[in-house]
Amino acid sequence: MGDAIEAFEHGLLQVATGHQATFAACVDEATLRAASAKLIGPSGELTKLLKLMPSLPGDRRKALGQRANELKREVTASFDARLSALVQAARQADLEGPAVDPTLPGRSLGRGSPHPITRTADALLEVFASIGFEVTDAPEIELADFNFTRLGFPPDHPATDMQDSFFVRGATSARFEDQVLLRTHTSNAQVHVMSSRRELPIACVSAGKVYRRDDDATHSPMFHQVEGFWVDRGISFSHLKGVLTTFVKRMFGASVPVRFRPSYFPFVEPGGELDVGCTICRPFDEAGSDAQRERTASCRVCKGTGWLEVLGCGMIHPVVFEHCGWDPTTVTGFAFGMGIDRIAMLRHGVKDIRLLYENDIRFLSQL
Ligand code: PHE
Repeated sequence: MGDAIEAFEHGLLQVATGHQATFAACVDEATLRAASAKLIGPSGELTKLLKLMPSLPGDRRKALGQRANELKREVTASFDARLSALVQAARQADLEGPAVDPTLPGRSLGRGSPHPITRTADALLEVFASIGFEVTDAPEIELADFNFTRLGFPPDHPATDMQDSFFVRGATSARFEDQVLLRTHTSNAQVHVMSSRRELPIACVSAGKVYRRDDDATHSPMFHQVEGFWVDRGISFSHLKGVLTTFVKRMFGASVPVRFRPSYFPFVEPGGELDVGCTICRPFDEAGSDAQRERTASCRVCKGTGWLEVLGCGMIHPVVFEHCGWDPTTVTGFAFGMGIDRIAMLRHGVKDIRLLYENDIRFLSQL
């Protein structure tokens, strides 16, 4: 029995003499906690001693127990003291360390800007608005009736094929006119406006997305067009030429020539396409010089022709007027439609249309 008491007392003495130095040697919270666990944790030295209590002789047990508990309080107190000293020291080091510099500039988020296609569309609409055209909207999801039939497309026209256009579910009947599709051009704006108005003149421009089953470097399945039309009594081809020539001069510069070529669209008669002198190799600037001929011959944008095709146009077909509730013997009008993306590519010298839709800020911020 005497041995057990001696061992117990020895254990207490070891803990009592060692804990202060052990804790003092700990320089951070983690080592301090580990050291404390070795003494008073669930399997710490002092904890083990306390578990031995029942085996001590009854007459000494109370006194030894009191000492052991007293010692546990001491160890806990010295742990707490050391912990708060470490916390205090860390805070002090923070305060004395390198200061925050309030004069440093803040982190910039960068400023956004409209997409180059939006900027080009706005520039185009702006020119037509300045001539007197009103800006309107038309739906992107459209009935075949508005996209094709009322514009005089025959039912077997290639554009009405599933291979060429995006038809969507939603038709209320099997009739071709009731089929629903993503519009293939902005000419549906003509039908919407002309069918819903009874007053003249009508002069509108409408810009937006159009969809076709095309996908390569110069064609995207989604692209953008601006449509314009002017309807009144006595509108002639001269008005068409005057308005579109004015537009080209304002948009591309007074020295840029225009040329009209005959072409076919079901909803115009006569129909044409308008070309502008190539704005990249600019053959019109010093026509006739050898250097100029050379530049045009090797121009990849106009492919050596000196001309760029920018829009389709023509006099609105009598059938379209009839389908929209107007009498073609009393009103006439012209219409035109052009690709915005192509004009944006020309303005910025972009060779692959897909770059415009990848939304890579490193590319877009250069335009
Ligand atoms: N809608 C035609 C197209 O998509 C363009 C056009 C519009 C032609 C108006 C003539 C008149 O190519």
